[in-house]
Amino acid sequence: MLHYTKQSDPALYDLLQKEYQRASNNIEMIASESTVPYEVMELTGSVFTNKTLEGYPGNRFQAGSEVADELERLANERAKALYGADHVNLQPYSGITSNYSVYASLLQPGDKVLAMRLDHGGHLSHGSVANFLSKVYDYRHYGVNQDTEQIDYEQLEEMARSFRPKLIIAGGSSYPRVIDFARIAKVAKEVDAVFMVDMAHIAGLVAAKLHPSPIPHADVVTSSTTKTFAGPRAGMIFCKEAFAKKIDQGVFPGALGSIHIHTMAAKAWSLQYASTDAYRAIMQKVLDNAKALAAALEKKGFRIVSGGTDNHIVMVDLREKNISGKQFQNALDSVGITVNKNQIPFDPASPFVTSGARIGTTCVSQRGLGPAEMDIIAGIMNDVAENPEDTAVLEACRKKVLLLIEQFPLYTDRAFFE
Ligand SMILES: Cc1ncc(COP(=O)(O)O)c(C=O)c1O
Repeated sequence: MLHYTKQSDPALYDLLQKEYQRASNNIEMIASESTVPYEVMELTGSVFTNKTLEGYPGNRFQAGSEVADELERLANERAKALYGADHVNLQPYSGITSNYSVYASLLQPGDKVLAMRLDHGGHLSHGSVANFLSKVYDYRHYGVNQDTEQIDYEQLEEMARSFRPKLIIAGGSSYPRVIDFARIAKVAKEVDAVFMVDMAHIAGLVAAKLHPSPIPHADVVTSSTTKTFAGPRAGMIFCKEAFAKKIDQGVFPGALGSIHIHTMAAKAWSLQYASTDAYRAIMQKVLDNAKALAAALEKKGFRIVSGGTDNHIVMVDLREKNISGKQFQNALDSVGITVNKNQIPFDPASPFVTSGARIGTTCVSQRGLGPAEMDIIAGIMNDVAENPEDTAVLEACRKKVLLLIEQFPLYTDRAFFE
């Protein structure tokens, strides 16, 4: 696949080989990552990348769009069938631009939005002060209950009734539990708010029907197509028919420009793949591994936020181990296990240091690791947490990581990357 780059730009070719080696020799456990199939790489590098297109099938601003029209219609049909949705828009470039597009579709500056706190598991694009949208819309945030570390639905309902938001958002980037979509939909209806679910993290599990779907409950559902969905770097928006026109206008011309139709081709492939038994089996493994990892870490004395997980995310409180999230992330990285530091609910530490880490099981499950390997990984994590500066321990851990991961190749067709 890299034949031409190899000839014309050896420096870049070299970087690609280095990244291949890094990813192959590391245990990738960043919860927002996945490993895409060859087809996704082929299609994102396909001739469709040359086509400039704005608008929708049958109504484009550019000529020569008849094949692309067919592609977008096919992708839309596959998406609607997979998720059982009334309407879909597959033009967003990512999860975050899906969210921006919904805001552009449904909100006016100053409108009120109720969403989950970032430090309790929400997302930057749900009104964090660090994101520019916090200056455009009037956000308030609900959080989790301090005892259960699960969404405080009473607080959410009270806030919905007193704040009267135009939009209520559920979903997040570090929330390991099933969300009661029906309950939030009920209060949204009561206060006349639009209900949006951002299923960026759980989209693959939902597609495989191994996690409750927000589609029947929410007016609008946004998603990334990377994370558990394991497709190309892009986004998607589903909605009830009543919102279809507004959402389409909000995406284009409201928020985005020309379509990444090459990425849409890869999305179309992934949407079909996500309906297969092979995909479902991997998603089941993702869930089994997350549960196994949480249990194994707990046995080693780590505290698991909310007491467990219902998805691919394990949130670990590191305070029992006297190590910060930042130190843990760096020490693990040095032995070849890739995770990210993350604030935990009511975290006394800053987002740059944190008392916790977020660990995801999508990539390892795709590579074929199972519960027995989760046990080994938990052991290595414990050794690292308890000896983050002991070079002999870290070296021994690096060897264990290499020994383990070489049994589960990242890709079997090495030639594809040469
Ligand atoms: C809940 C949620 N929404 C949106 C996004 C953004 O997705 P993307 O990286 O595809 O823009 C993320 C990614 O971290 C996320 O966790």
